[in-house]
Amino acid sequence: MPEVSSLPSRIRSRFPIFERLVYINSCSQGALSDSVRSAYDAYLRDWDEKGAPWDLWVERTESARATFAGLVNADPDEIAVTTSLSAAVSSLASGLRFARRSKVVVSDLEFPTVGQIWHAQESRGARVVHVPVGPDGTVPLEHFDAAIDDDTALVSITHVSYRTGAMVDVEAVVELAHQRGALVLLDAYQTAGSMPLDAKQLDVDFLAAGTLKYLLGSAGLAFFYCRRELFEKARPTATGWFADEDIFAMDIHDYSPSPTARRFQSGTPPVPSIYAGIAGIELMLEIGIPETREHVLELNDRLIAGVDELGGTVVTPRERERHGALICIRSTDVNALVAALDERGIVTSGRDSNLRVSAHAYNTAEDIDALLEALRDRRELLA
Ligand SMILES: Cc1ncc(COP(=O)(O)O)c(C=O)c1O
Repeated sequence: MPEVSSLPSRIRSRFPIFERLVYINSCSQGALSDSVRSAYDAYLRDWDEKGAPWDLWVERTESARATFAGLVNADPDEIAVTTSLSAAVSSLASGLRFARRSKVVVSDLEFPTVGQIWHAQESRGARVVHVPVGPDGTVPLEHFDAAIDDDTALVSITHVSYRTGAMVDVEAVVELAHQRGALVLLDAYQTAGSMPLDAKQLDVDFLAAGTLKYLLGSAGLAFFYCRRELFEKARPTATGWFADEDIFAMDIHDYSPSPTARRFQSGTPPVPSIYAGIAGIELMLEIGIPETREHVLELNDRLIAGVDELGGTVVTPRERERHGALICIRSTDVNALVAALDERGIVTSGRDSNLRVSAHAYNTAEDIDALLEALRDRRELLA
């Protein structure tokens, strides 16, 4: 079995769930840490002590904006602080016009929300074209090549698929899209926090993610990056007062969106989730995102080798540069398998007929071995 780093020994005690469970499900939700719990306490304390400290809470929102910017190598004014990835993508979609270029190219590995939002634009003139997966379960570059043309307004891709764990070659798709004058939106929800992300290096036009998973926050907070040169490209009609150029002007007589990426926000920011999100991201930065990526790849090598030994099927591409944290394993009855693991105190999840195992900085080689042992005992549930 491959060797695994000592990273978790530094930090595992900060996540009390590991006193009771083997938690390997960060593709759904990151584990609760002591610092995120304290952040919620701090929110309640500030509320209780100060009543309505909106100056402080607006400041906190700006800290979140700066933290997100640092995370993806952007400037704060290129970031919108939103309540979900869906809210961010909906805002973008609502502001695009499909008169000159009508086509939106959507990979077949997208999260449902993304496909649904683009199809919702059909009533506004968009034509949605899906890019199918190839025989190995990934979307080959040739399929993007065939789909993207001079009528393509936007290409919507997911960095790592929530269903298969496959990672798309972002730079190659971006190059194709840009050659043909199309913009690219990257859904980075399954990579944010689990590996370094650099919006400039990836050269994407838009990027969206949230804090729920590998960023160790909780529900209710997401962010959206818009390349500076494109601020004016979209005039969102899904909007609200926190997207206005002067939030506290309280003007009801016109629509004048912020000249920055803040135009993609809408209403009151999700203050409790912002406290938690900042704490989660700061913890991830303290732990180290590059170190986490390396550690998780080692755990994934161990997991893949173990599943091979059991004669199971790993659905996710096994090369390190073609997967993120999530590894999917085919099952004959995934609900039964997730339940059987749960009974042994091992928390995973399932999608389609795949068991999803998603390690993070806090997971150990022993976690993987416990899972493999449980899989051996329920070998009949592996396909
Ligand atoms: C890849 C991906 N995109 C989007 C989402 C959902 O985003 P939201 O609920 O913030 O709109 C998820 C969450 O499960 C996801 O895994």
